[in-house]
Amino acid sequence: MTTLINALPLPIMAVGEDERVRAVNAPLVAMLGPDLLGKHHVAALRQPAVLDAIMMARQGGAPTTAQYLGRDGDRDTTYRVVAALAGRDVVVSFEDQTAAEYAGQMRRDFVANVSHELRTPLTALLGFIETLGGAARNDAAARDRFLEIMTNEANRMTRLVDDLLSLSRVEDDERVRPRENVNIGDVLASVIKGLEPQAAAADVTVTLDRPTQQVTLPGDTGQLVQVFTNLVENAIKYGASGGRVVVRLSPAANQPRLRSEGVQIEVIDHGEGISAHHIPRLTERFYRVDSHRSRAVGGTGLGLAIVKHIINRHRGRISIESIVGQGTTVRVLLPIESKA
Ligand SMILES: Nc1ncnc2c1ncn2[C@@H]1O[C@H](COP(=O)(O)OP(=O)(O)OP(=O)(O)O)[C@@H](O)[C@H]1O
Ligand SMILES: [Mg+2]
Repeated sequence: MTTLINALPLPIMAVGEDERVRAVNAPLVAMLGPDLLGKHHVAALRQPAVLDAIMMARQGGAPTTAQYLGRDGDRDTTYRVVAALAGRDVVVSFEDQTAAEYAGQMRRDFVANVSHELRTPLTALLGFIETLGGAARNDAAARDRFLEIMTNEANRMTRLVDDLLSLSRVEDDERVRPRENVNIGDVLASVIKGLEPQAAAADVTVTLDRPTQQVTLPGDTGQLVQVFTNLVENAIKYGASGGRVVVRLSPAANQPRLRSEGVQIEVIDHGEGISAHHIPRLTERFYRVDSHRSRAVGGTGLGLAIVKHIINRHRGRISIESIVGQGTTVRVLLPIESKA
């Protein structure tokens, strides 16, 4: 028995007729620890669902399944347990389902988030439609005001759907290398130009600091525009109190993190900053430091998630540094040479 189960990759134990652990393989020892041989299986496994499965396998003969919940460091794990009678032993195998459980959880969270983000503007729209049909039917001033709000809410839904589509598109082609030869300084200049009205409205000046020589790199122009539009827009929206945003393009010779020559683009604002514990989570979908405020400025929290996927596709790196009260610097490194 020991020889046989040691040839198998899953954690496996055999429980003898005396209900004691008769054999274990190395993966099982890694999972449950040493010194199990000879112990009563109840002491080794403890979880009622698994113990029931073992009992049923012994009595009924047919293999039975159960779930085993474990812990690996600070991570919860889930195993699918199969108990089956083999001769006089019950063989218990553990199949790690943690990744599948996690993916399922992510999907449920995602659907819940999307539904919530769509429901909020929809509820507002329905409320205004009702008011327009009733109380405000003959009030021209109120009608105009409500129509304006309704337009904003409808625009928010459109933006959300656009962002979701954009996210699934960038996820789809993350493995396809971008092929255009992009002049990154020109991209930054056109992004800043496009955001001029927004910057003026927020009373923020945006300046571009770029070297005199032209820098080109392999990339996807549309996607790089999307990246820097979001970063500069964030700096304007959330860093407005600082009054000025600097976009700096500089060569980044021999970046060990890129394994090639690269360029560095920094988007620097002098706004209120982000506290350290939020920073690692900013690129998660729908993650917002202050969802109320972000929503008020039209944010869906998908921007940085999209940015991260695009930078990955370009084999680049992104990092965020921030000091509360002083401002935020988002640094993007992009490789210049395309290596296979
Ligand atoms: N420069 C910044 N200063 C302070 N907070 C920032 C800055 N950039 C991003 N954040 C925070 O990170 C969150 C996530 O940014 P992200 O771009 O992903 O979403 P968003 O701007 O809210 O929405 P979207 O980009 O989809 O319109 C923001 O809601 C904001 O709380
Ligand atoms: Mg944004």
